[in-house]
Amino acid sequence: MRLFVTGGCGFIGTNFVYHVLRERPDATILNFDALTYAGNRANLLPLEDEAAATLAAGREPRYRFVRGDIADPRAVDAALTEFKPDAVVNFAAETHVDRSIDDPAPFVTTNVLGTQTLLTLAREHQIPRFVHISTDEVYGSLGPEGRFTEHTPLAPNSPYSASKAGADLLVRAFHETYGLDTVTTRCSNNYGPYQFPEKLIPLMISRAQADAPLPVYGDGENVRDWIHVEDHCRGVLLALEEGRPGAVYNFGGAAEMQNLAVVRAILKELGKPESLISFVKDRPGHDRRYAMDFTLAGTELGYAPTLDFAAGIKATVAWYLEHADWVRSVESGEYRSFMDRWYGERT
Ligand code: NAD
Ligand code: TYD
Repeated sequence: MRLFVTGGCGFIGTNFVYHVLRERPDATILNFDALTYAGNRANLLPLEDEAAATLAAGREPRYRFVRGDIADPRAVDAALTEFKPDAVVNFAAETHVDRSIDDPAPFVTTNVLGTQTLLTLAREHQIPRFVHISTDEVYGSLGPEGRFTEHTPLAPNSPYSASKAGADLLVRAFHETYGLDTVTTRCSNNYGPYQFPEKLIPLMISRAQADAPLPVYGDGENVRDWIHVEDHCRGVLLALEEGRPGAVYNFGGAAEMQNLAVVRAILKELGKPESLISFVKDRPGHDRRYAMDFTLAGTELGYAPTLDFAAGIKATVAWYLEHADWVRSVESGEYRSFMDRWYGERT
């Protein structure tokens, strides 16, 4: 199995590359990533070292990295021509809701135009399968009851989710119009190793460790369904190998929690006081509640989450404590300038 993985240097992509190489001894991966502020080539450095040794021994390595932009047709074309994959797995995206509020432009360029560019070239190269990674956020916001199914109408509220919904519709159109073999996965909020410290869980771990205030938006009662990234990676691999052409599959963790409960769990794990919690101005257009019905993935793919939140958050806090160097290395100048501006206006 030859996989063209985009965005493999990001949070979920990194976990997916390790997951596939571990679970599928016959898999070979080309990781195509633009290395934006959120991409870290060093995450996969052990694989690059292994690949160099394999190459020196005259064999094809199981992993290779190509720096490239999914919205650049020439770069995508060259990489596909050379690698000849059996499938594209598209993780590459601009992913942070707050950044999309600050500036929607790169979200449209990468998430919409980039996905269209990949689809067009996947079609030209007759790639047998295109797996597109999407999010529950395309469905919009829920009240206190109910869960999203694959039939829930798309009603995105942030520039991020609008750009992901645009990409999802293009994937659908390429299947309906050209018969491209596509599968779309929509997953709830992920957490685990290598998540960039701009998202709720790693941000709160980082701040709490430094005894800095933890900025909770609004009343802190917004609800997300948390899934450990390993469970998401299992789901994506199932969708890749077993998914029905043209299908959409929801994935979730069956772990609905209010933000305040998540933050309190982190503080407890770190032995820090709740007085660090600081309520700040709400995010504009803040979705109140997400919850996933993933029955379809259960019946068609045999998917079920395996890691509960209590065990998952314990392991995740431990990972961040053990990887303080990693956190320091990704908190670059660009990261700091956005964070200072965004939170500076909110406190
Ligand atoms: P991330 O922000 O951690 O990583 C994104 C990666 O994409 C980075 O390595 C970045 O360098 C790369 N990238 C960005 N623009 C690119 C471009 N134009 N060309 C090539 N590479 C580019 O994101 P993540 O949290 O790992 O999310 C991965 C995917 O999963 C996204 O499509 C996201 O919408 C989806 N998703 C994420 C979550 C979540 O909770 N994190 C939940 C559901 C779905
Ligand atoms: P986030 O990790 O940005 O994921 P998403 O917005 O894609 O769900 O945020 C998760 C929840 O945490 C969301 O309701 C917003 C909230 N949040 C805060 O309260 N404070 C913060 O500093 C951040 C980043 C998020």
